[in-house]
Amino acid sequence: MGLISGGVFFKILAFLCFIRLSQGRNSATPDLPPLRKASSFSKIQHEAYDYIIVGGGTAGCPLAATLSKKYKVLLLERGGSPYGNRNISYLENFHICLTDESKNSPSQGFISTDGVINSRAKVLGGGTCINAGFYSRANRRFVKDAGWDEELVNQSYPWVEERIVYWPKIAPWQAALRDGLLEAGVSPYNGYTYDHLFGTKVGGTIFDEAGYRHTAADLLAAANPDNLRVLLHASVNKVIFKTRHGHQKQSAIGVQFKDENGGHHQAFLSQKRGSEIIVSAGAIGSPQLLLISGIGPRSELKKHNISIVLHNEHVGKGMSDNPLSSVFIPTKDPPKQSLIETVGITDDGVFIEASSGFGQTGDSIHCHHGIMSAEIGQLSTIPPKERSLEAVHKYVRNKKSLPKEVFHGGFILSKIDGPLSTGNLVLVDTDPNSNPNVTFNYFKHPQDLRRCVYGIKTIEKIIILQGYSGHHLALPWWMSCRQGG
Ligand SMILES: Cc1cc2nc3c(=O)[nH]c(=O)nc-3n(C[C@H](O)[C@H](O)[C@H](O)COP(=O)(O)OP(=O)(O)OC[C@H]3O[C@@H](n4cnc5c(N)ncnc54)[C@H](O)[C@@H]3O)c2cc1C
Ligand SMILES: *[C@@H]1O[C@H](CO)[C@@H](O)[C@H](O)[C@H]1NC(C)=O
Ligand SMILES: *[C@@H]1O[C@H](CO)[C@@H](O)[C@H](O)[C@H]1NC(C)=O
Ligand SMILES: *[C@@H]1O[C@H](CO)[C@@H](O)[C@H](O)[C@H]1NC(C)=O
Ligand SMILES: *[C@@H]1O[C@H](CO)[C@@H](O)[C@H](O)[C@H]1NC(C)=O
Repeated sequence: MGLISGGVFFKILAFLCFIRLSQGRNSATPDLPPLRKASSFSKIQHEAYDYIIVGGGTAGCPLAATLSKKYKVLLLERGGSPYGNRNISYLENFHICLTDESKNSPSQGFISTDGVINSRAKVLGGGTCINAGFYSRANRRFVKDAGWDEELVNQSYPWVEERIVYWPKIAPWQAALRDGLLEAGVSPYNGYTYDHLFGTKVGGTIFDEAGYRHTAADLLAAANPDNLRVLLHASVNKVIFKTRHGHQKQSAIGVQFKDENGGHHQAFLSQKRGSEIIVSAGAIGSPQLLLISGIGPRSELKKHNISIVLHNEHVGKGMSDNPLSSVFIPTKDPPKQSLIETVGITDDGVFIEASSGFGQTGDSIHCHHGIMSAEIGQLSTIPPKERSLEAVHKYVRNKKSLPKEVFHGGFILSKIDGPLSTGNLVLVDTDPNSNPNVTFNYFKHPQDLRRCVYGIKTIEKIIILQGYSGHHLALPWWMSCRQGG
């Protein structure tokens, strides 16, 4: 120490911290606790956990990281690691990833009984590995209605933002939407902000300057590695219940899961008060797992010979999905690729967003492009009730003959915040990896339909205003209205 003066020492230290910080922000693999395969979970191990978290997705990863600071945590994820998979990591592969149907795909194809094509995440990091990466803080109203402590919520945002959120350098298509929204009266312009404010803004994104995706899995770097065990390819097929001594009701004591080789395992909670199984398996996976485990409407459980733990009418009810309607605008030249960056937030609860430039490469023409497909307009010539994954495959085969130029263009999207239309979820079988039947009843509620019309009319205004001013968008354009997403 005597050789280096204090000032120099601190400068070196600061410099080292700077290198470390910049590496942390940009490196492909953050410093994570070990990600082990489920088969490594030894059957003779009797370690007990304070928390067992089912589903290592958008919610499960930060939850596991936070709880591990004080408690012993087991995180069980049915999918694999997102690291080293270019389909996940690069923005340009967004649509390719959604349509990947291979066995280890991070995306599981899903079609609601309404006939809307969608994807369910099946990978550590969950939806943040396959989604459009737009980041915004919550509507304050949402926080209030949820009964959360707003101050604590406010304090928590930077924890995520510092780790995985970036400001976009907005693409021309997104700049055109910004100008169009303002001309169409979706004002004021709130600039770059994470806050949910009425008007037009540019929000955050989990894609960095290089178009590299940062996911919820990266948040595991904040965990205490001594307290957290992460298992991949661990499909939970049952929450185990037992009547505790001196109690009437059954309580959850552990879980049963299958590893990547089909081997069965069980993991248990510690005897400590307050130890819990947390189900964060997604909006579809969570009720599905409850039903499979024996919690739900008696009649539903009986149909599948599931022994009843608790009769509860509400499991699988009130399912809703925010409908997305899109307009595809063809252009002469392929626009630069972009996902959601600019958003118009109307006081009516309609969000207007845009994406551009997908489906231009030889490779991508062979994909059905999932929910963002330019050809959804054509696919929707198949009546909704006849849409199946097989019908999609057949469509994809025919699509190969289409000229590349028909895919040049971009979308303007309209979404409804908090739809009032609801539906239900029922099991098809008792396999946690198969899709249950889900009905969302899109636009059944007149207010949802009214908002859809308002959204599309706003988009129409934007296109006409932008088209006539002649700078950004090439007319003619056509419209493809669809639901879901
Ligand atoms: C195409 C698309 C684009 C989107 N774009 C955006 C966007 O730009 N911005 C935005 O904020 N939101 C977007 N969303 C929505 C967002 O991604 C989801 O709301 C969010 O990821 C849901 O988080 P979750 O933790 O509830 O579920 P998920 O992130 O899906 O996590 C659930 C996890 O549980 C696992 N799991 C399920 N069942 C089991 C089981 N039995 N055993 C073990 N593991 C299990 C799954 O594999 C998954 O990893 C988009 C969604 C989609 C599909
Ligand atoms: C990427 O997705 C395509 C299909 O869309 C698939 O064929 C390919 O195997 C995937 N690549 C990886 C690395 O998983
Ligand atoms: C939370 O943050 C928002 C804006 O970011 C602010 O308007 C609000 O007053 C804050 N609430 C509390 C309780 O700190
Ligand atoms: C439920 O059990 C009955 C009687 O054992 C059997 O006939 C029926 O096929 C079973 N149903 C399912 C869905 O397994
Ligand atoms: C699930 O939906 C499919 C197609 O909509 C239907 O044929 C099937 O009968 C449904 N199964 C159940 C259990 O509801």
